[in-house]
Amino acid sequence: MLGIGVDFGGTGIKGAVVDLDAGELAASRHRIPTPDPSAPDAVAATITEVVAAAVGEVPCDGPVGIAVPGVVTAGVVRTAANIDDRWIGTDGRALLAASLRRDVVLLNDADAAGIAEMRFGAGAGRDGVVMLLTLGTGIGSALFVDGKLVPNTELGHLVMWGGSAEEQASAKARKDEGLDWEAWVETRVNPYLAYVEALFWPDLIVVSGGISKEPERFFPYLETRAEIVPAELKNNAGIVGAAAAAREAHG
Ligand code: BGC
Repeated sequence: MLGIGVDFGGTGIKGAVVDLDAGELAASRHRIPTPDPSAPDAVAATITEVVAAAVGEVPCDGPVGIAVPGVVTAGVVRTAANIDDRWIGTDGRALLAASLRRDVVLLNDADAAGIAEMRFGAGAGRDGVVMLLTLGTGIGSALFVDGKLVPNTELGHLVMWGGSAEEQASAKARKDEGLDWEAWVETRVNPYLAYVEALFWPDLIVVSGGISKEPERFFPYLETRAEIVPAELKNNAGIVGAAAAAREAHG
């Protein structure tokens, strides 16, 4: 079965038709830079363009799943740490359904990536407490208990170093501050993981986000009590998970 997934990120809006049996893209990934400012109307227009390009390549009826970098409850975006503030309180599901003329499922980006990894990747078949962390522009989290998602956990906003942990420990922070991989892991990521582990005691941690494409750069320095593994769907987890969530909700 095919589905359509879109990942609204800090720098790019990416979408594709997804093969939901195989858990991978059915054709190419279409990407347009995220509008600046990333206000709801501009982003909706860009998402509509991305979806048109994707279904122009592989025709696909049905709903669109959209992963967004903020808390989403009942289709409404509630936070906007790394996107335009006008998203807060916006009924993104209604806005995008009108623009796409399709049913839409809106969900948090880390939750979408987590759904994909639990179904098709590093978390497949894993019970207990599984936590996915995306290290990108911010830090996103997805928490699963015996395979069931606890949505919107927002563990990137645990308070550390006097602010949101993501400000110091995200992949963006590493780049902005010119830290090498070892210094970043030892002074930022390991203390962050220790705090998360002290609070949640996960059995498995899956590290997702763009940097999971090159785990050899930083995995050797990670220190955790739990087993920790790189994501398997790499950069496409958000798209695949969003498409899966939309099919599940709308058939
Ligand atoms: C947002 C989360 C999001 C994460 C990764 C954080 O700043 O609050 O909702 O999952 O960034 O994009």
